[in-house]
Amino acid sequence: MNTIFSKITNKNDPAIQQAGEILKNGGLVGIPTETVYGLAANALNTEAVKNIYKAKGRPSDNPLIVHISKLEQWAPLVKEIPVDALALAHAFWPGPLTIILKKSDIIPDETSGKLDTVAVRMPSNVIARAVIDASGVPLAAPSANTSGKPSPTNAKYVFDDLNGKIEMILDAGDCSVGVESTVITLATDKPKLLRPGGITPEMLETVLGEIEIDDAVYHKLATDTVAASPGMKYKHYAPKAEITLVKGSFDRFKALLEENKNQNPTALCYTEDMEKLGDFPCVSYGSKTNLNEQASRIFDALRELDEIGAGVVYARFPSMEGIGLAVYNRLIRAAAFRVAE
Ligand code: TXA
Ligand code: MG
Repeated sequence: MNTIFSKITNKNDPAIQQAGEILKNGGLVGIPTETVYGLAANALNTEAVKNIYKAKGRPSDNPLIVHISKLEQWAPLVKEIPVDALALAHAFWPGPLTIILKKSDIIPDETSGKLDTVAVRMPSNVIARAVIDASGVPLAAPSANTSGKPSPTNAKYVFDDLNGKIEMILDAGDCSVGVESTVITLATDKPKLLRPGGITPEMLETVLGEIEIDDAVYHKLATDTVAASPGMKYKHYAPKAEITLVKGSFDRFKALLEENKNQNPTALCYTEDMEKLGDFPCVSYGSKTNLNEQASRIFDALRELDEIGAGVVYARFPSMEGIGLAVYNRLIRAAAFRVAE
């Protein structure tokens, strides 16, 4: 298949109408959002959704997020919208928050991964919303990477993974947030955070009061537990390199690199560390003091490790405050939960 690649700068670009037509006809389009690029298809079209799984090589029990551009599109997708859900939508939509509720009958099993719930979000990226409008349907859109690779934060990475497998890619530059949306379920007794992202637990608690945080956010799931969010059971976000997170100070970090010099280690570090690392090759995931920058850099940094052919990587252990929890969650998975205390 010949993949159309269009650079767009505003929501009136004719390429958006073209993307809308492709989606209406059951095709797949890589679209920008504020979090990461998404691989979109009509969420209500079983065949189109099946093709998402095929293009990504994604396990079919891992459900998709449905993207809407207007609040009225939500009610038909779910059984009911509880007041808490509406309060969250008013506070954080459009934006990087995904809300899970019991699904209505129009959601195909392919979209919900056979669960009785559906995840919905309204992105803040104006191009994303313009594409949803142009298609006239809610769009299922997982991150537009090959399953198991880091999520793409620019259109070039979408091209690298999916060229020839999908109808079109819209390039609107870099994503501003850089990690995927926060996922919260309100389909359980108590609201539970399933995936940390741009909307932090602290922000959610201003609306909901105390929330639970799923164990899978922090730890590796035991092999016999059922994942609340199926995506959490997969290794995910992994570059080819073998990464170990290193707790403690910069001096401790550098000492560990020295001790393991025979492995030709690469450092995944803060920008401030780079000039103090001597001859060790390094990739930065942002400033130690700028957690937003870390979020927007982390997936790029993981892809860069592959590009420079890093084999063994030691990484600074990130702060878990605010959006730092999202950075930690992605990095600990990329490291397959290896930590040096
Ligand atoms: O920021 C984002 O959310 C991006 C952009 C493109 O919008 N999308 C994204 O989709 O990250 P994806 O498919 O890569 O991640 C969706 C996550 C998965 O971990 C999946 O298991 C979980 O959300 N999920 C989706 N529906 C669910 C449901 N009904 N119950 C539990 N978890 C669900
Ligand atoms: Mg993903």
